[in-house]
Order: sequence, then C-alpha cells, then structure tokens
Amino acid sequence: MPDQYQNLDGETAHTLQQNKAQAKKSKLIVIFSLITLLLLIGGGVAAWYFITHQKGSTPPATPDNSGNSTTVDIGDDPSKFEKDSRLHKSFYGIAYTPEGSLMPNCGNKLENVIRDIQLLSQLTGRIRLYGSDCNQTALVLEAIKQTKVDMEVYLGNYVVPDDNTPYQRQRDAIKEAIVTYGPDHVAGITVGNEFMLNYLTAHQSKEPNGPIGQQGAAILKADIDDTRQMVADMKLSKPILIGTSDAGSFFNKDVLASVDYGMSNVHAWFANQTASAAANWVFNFFDETNVQPASQLPNKPKMYIAETGWPTKSSDAGNANNGGSPASTQTLQTFIDTFVCQANSENVGYFFFEFCDEKWKDDIYGGVEGWWGLFNGDRTLKEITIPDCAAP
Ligand SMILES: *[C@@H]1O[C@H](CO)[C@@H](O)[C@H](O)[C@H]1NC(C)=O
Ligand SMILES: *[C@@H]1O[C@H](CO)[C@@H](O)[C@H](O)[C@H]1NC(C)=O
Ligand SMILES: *[C@@H]1O[C@H](CO)[C@@H](O)[C@H](O)[C@H]1NC(C)=O
Repeated sequence: MPDQYQNLDGETAHTLQQNKAQAKKSKLIVIFSLITLLLLIGGGVAAWYFITHQKGSTPPATPDNSGNSTTVDIGDDPSKFEKDSRLHKSFYGIAYTPEGSLMPNCGNKLENVIRDIQLLSQLTGRIRLYGSDCNQTALVLEAIKQTKVDMEVYLGNYVVPDDNTPYQRQRDAIKEAIVTYGPDHVAGITVGNEFMLNYLTAHQSKEPNGPIGQQGAAILKADIDDTRQMVADMKLSKPILIGTSDAGSFFNKDVLASVDYGMSNVHAWFANQTASAAANWVFNFFDETNVQPASQLPNKPKMYIAETGWPTKSSDAGNANNGGSPASTQTLQTFIDTFVCQANSENVGYFFFEFCDEKWKDDIYGGVEGWWGLFNGDRTLKEITIPDCAAP
C-alpha cells in the first residue's frame, strides 16, 4: 500500500501521495492517512481527525542492519557517569529501541544499552519499548539496575497478525525478565504496536470498529488478556499495567475496554502541518481522537501519546518537506519548544519520538524514517537546545 493522505468525508477519498518504490514493500512502508468522520453528538457535529502512521517501529521481515553495534566503554561503575549540562529531565517519556533488537540478527550489547540509559535518564524518567525480542527487556532492566537511575519502563510485546509465536516468545521473555529484576521499574506492558493498523491494512479495511476490525481486535484482546493473566499469576509486589499502542485513528473499542492504558501515535509531520502549528495540532488531535473517546468507555483507559516528534532530515529530496515545513534541526527545535513544556504543564503523557536516529530504518524505509532522533546515531546530541521544564 502506498503512502496515503486520505480525507474520507463520505464522498471523497483522495490519495494525494504515492511512492512507487515503497509501494512494493506493502507491509513495510509508511502508511498514513487523515480521515475526517462526522459524528453527530447531541445534535451537534464533531469532526474527528484520524491520522495513522506506520513506520520503522515495525520490525522488517528481513532486517539487515540490526546487529552491528560497536561496544562502548562505560567504565567500571555505570552508576557513576558524567552528566551533560545540556540535558534536562524535561520529557515525560521517550520512545527507545536498543540498537540490535531485531530478529533474527539481534546483536545488542549491554554496554550500549547502559550508555543509552545514562543519556536517557538525564532527559526523562520514563521510556517505552516496542518489543521484547533479542533479550532487550532484560538488557534494559539490567542497565537500569547497574546505572541506579530513576527510570520506569513500559515494556513492549510486538504482536503480529496470523502468527502467535512472536507474542508467546516475547511474553515469556518479559516474564523471565520480571522474575529476574522484579517489577519495580516496570510501569506497564504494552501488548501490540500498530497491530490494528497492520491487521486492517492486510485485510483492506480502514474501520477499526467494523467487522474486520472486530476480528483483529479479538486476536489482540486474547493476547492482552493472556498477558494480564500472566502478570496476575506472578503475584507481584506492585501492579504492572497492561496496555496497547496503535496509530492514532486505529483504536478498537473492545481492545481499549480491555486495557489500563492506550498509547497513540500522533504525527503532525505526516499531517502536513507546519512546525510552528504542529504542537497545537497534536494536542487537538490527541484530545479529540483518543482522550475524549477513551473517557466514554466504562474502564476509562489512560491515554498517552505513544510517538510524537519531528524529523531533522530526509534521505531523499522528495520527502525533505512535508508540504508545511522542511525536516531540519531548526524545525525540530520549534516543535520541541512549542510542545514539550506545554504538554508537561497540561499533564499530557507522551513519549517523544525518538531517542536517536536509527540507521536500520533509513536502510529499509528511506525518506525521513531514520532521522527522528534527539541524538544522532552515534549518540551525540543534535544541534538542539533541550528545554528546562521538569516533566510531571
Ligand atoms: C555487520 O555484521 C555482519 C556480520 O558480522 C557483517 O558481515 C557486516 O559487514 C556488518 N555490517 C556493518 C555495516 O558493519
Ligand atoms: C539477557 O540479558 C541479561 C542482562 O544482561 C543477561 O544476564 C542474560 O544472560 C541475557 N540472556 C541472553 C539469553 O542473552
Ligand atoms: C503533504 O505532503 C506530501 C509530501 O510532501 C505531499 O505529497 C502532499 O501533497 C501534501 N498534502 C497536502 C494536503 O498538502
């Protein structure tokens, strides 16, 4: 499926962007859509804007550059590390994937995860992971243990449609890691990342609450319930919440009704917003599409922004501008300056996307996909100023 920017208002469906090269890789390409649904609420009309974005957080079928991290020297005592005065603990949360965490190559290294956790802990007290393959859960918890930093983690279990083996493998790895490290630093387990988007896309549907959506939801919900049972059976000393994450417009109501929290990808870049308008667009979209609908459900799941950010470059000229603004460190700075402190003061829980540039995403997807980091791939800070406003 090609990149899409769609406006479904009952009459029109425009595909405004198509990328032939990427169209070949149907499951692996970036998908985004902006759908307007008109909802009659109490006689009034409310417009719900939906945007979805499937990107590099989807493990590719044949990862080819995931296992080549060089090992860094982190010294004798990882809890003693030099603080970078440019960094401030201003981010509610940050999206993180340890380098080399894709099957089958893997290749991640504890030393590198320790270095990342040392940096991350200077920016935030929360991170979220996307999956649990390649021992990444244990590595992250071991790194938190060794660095002794104040950090809680939303673990991830990347569920794929039509094969439950990856779910089970990751569930078992999560269980083992919690047995080893205890629940203290584990805030939640996120079951599914863009599962509904992927399921619907594979079955040519766009309706998370339609018949096909319900089929996908039943698969995901079974895994959510299974993880909840696993955690309950462990009789832990502290609760671990169970959630799911998906593209902003792809939450199924039954799935949301079965979780403690939902995490939603909200990307102003893919909605062609200018950098200066992006933050307000994100706040409005998230509130209308995710927070308000979730508050209507009996269980009132807590909603977070799973991903929001801004790319600093594109590997091709065609994607270097989203129609609103260019990808650049200046525009990332604008988004950071307008989003981070306001989100903190309004108690919007978000995971900034993302920790560092990821070469494997650039290799597979091209465009802006590999260039969303606060840090470069070599873990040097980009030419940006981190705001100083303590995150809640
Ligand atoms: C990654 O590692 C593999 C196997 O060790 C090697 O063949 C390949 O050249 C390496 N790639 C890079 C980019 O270093
Ligand atoms: C997973 O990581 C932990 C923490 O570094 C380590 O103790 C364990 O041996 C690793 N397991 C595997 C299978 O690599
Ligand atoms: C959004 O940006 C893409 C990429 O530059 C472009 O192809 C598309 O036409 C733009 N859409 C709008 C509505 O401006």
